[in-house]
Amino acid sequence: MPPASAKSKTKPSPRRVFISYARKDGATLAHQLRDFLAQSNFGPWLDTHQIDGGASWSRNIEDAIDNSHALIAILTEGSYVSEICRAEQMRALRAGKTVIPVLAKSTAPRPLFLETLNYRQFPAQQNELVKDLGAKPTQAVLPQLRYDTVPSPPQKFMPRENAVAAVRHLLFSSEGSSESIAVTAVAGMDGIGKTVLTIALCRDPTVRDAFPDGIAWITIGREWNGDFVPRMREAAKALGDDLAAYDNPIACQTQYRNLLRGKAALVVIDDVWKIQHLEQLLVDSPRSRFLFTTRDKSIVRAKTNRFYAADVLSTQEARALLALWANVESGKLPPAESARFGRQNAEGVGPVDQPHAPHAEGRLRLDQWLGGNG
Ligand SMILES: Nc1ncnc2c1ncn2[C@@H]1O[C@H](COP(=O)(O)OP(=O)(O)OP(=O)(O)O)[C@@H](O)[C@H]1O
Ligand SMILES: [Mg+2]
Repeated sequence: MPPASAKSKTKPSPRRVFISYARKDGATLAHQLRDFLAQSNFGPWLDTHQIDGGASWSRNIEDAIDNSHALIAILTEGSYVSEICRAEQMRALRAGKTVIPVLAKSTAPRPLFLETLNYRQFPAQQNELVKDLGAKPTQAVLPQLRYDTVPSPPQKFMPRENAVAAVRHLLFSSEGSSESIAVTAVAGMDGIGKTVLTIALCRDPTVRDAFPDGIAWITIGREWNGDFVPRMREAAKALGDDLAAYDNPIACQTQYRNLLRGKAALVVIDDVWKIQHLEQLLVDSPRSRFLFTTRDKSIVRAKTNRFYAADVLSTQEARALLALWANVESGKLPPAESARFGRQNAEGVGPVDQPHAPHAEGRLRLDQWLGGNG
């Protein structure tokens, strides 16, 4: 036990405050606020790493929010359209932190999910701000997903965290640009895992936080007859719109356009075969993002330079999937050099549509191995 004198000298650790801001137009205020909070004995944290290299979501951000007592959301035009700012704010609200919105200008747009909170201006209301930081955690009413159109992952699902993070990075990398239709693609050959990867992306908590108005999943497919009414109705349902306005093609198109314009939503268009099919569904929406999957590189090239090239599984992933199917821990599989995975080649990478048994010739077969161990 420390002596009483040493104990009394221990300074309480400062209350940690996460500052959420858009790199595009909130950086100056964020730095001023950081300096003020540091002088006022708080422990401010703001992400300065990405300013030059383009914004991204990182584990550092997650840890910093989770370890903070409060989050100050600097509201600007830029933060309003930023999926990263939304994800930061929503994460803090979900974790029951004190969340304080600070308006960079009185006209700054206010996200719906922050609407019930007390807004502050800085530096005009700096004393109030300090008081707020000591207040109880925010009781926010978080948006609920009413109708989920995202398909379920396969029963034996192997999470591909690195691939999900890479697609999420692309999806978020339009931050700061002035695109009103931001499109990202996941491309690759048939059966490579585009749809399943996109399902995993849609289930990622940060992606869900970034699009609080919802995620709409629209499947196109090769045989689609081009009738977009049912597809738009599904999207509308997922985003909580009244379906009565979607009764004929023209009304449907207009309503879909109007709906998306004001939303912060993710619209996934899976399995696109014709560019015309995709174009019907891309509409102006500065806070939404569109993501499509396709086998056709020419559609990708025509629509976006933000694309993820889905590839065969890494050796580690192939083994993890095989282990799932074999119902064993991946550490208990035979060593990679004694087995070959997949129909592709011998390099340990395999198809993702079915994990095939390792080739028999001269190598350990899975059933033999399991027989020997089970
Ligand atoms: N991460 C994964 N975990 C488990 N199984 C997977 C995974 N990814 C893909 N699969 C399996 O591979 C099959 C094909 O994957 P998916 O449907 O995602 O391919 P795709 O690239 O979308 O194909 P297509 O071009 O035909 O649309 C899935 O039905 C599933 O069985
Ligand atoms: Mg698919």
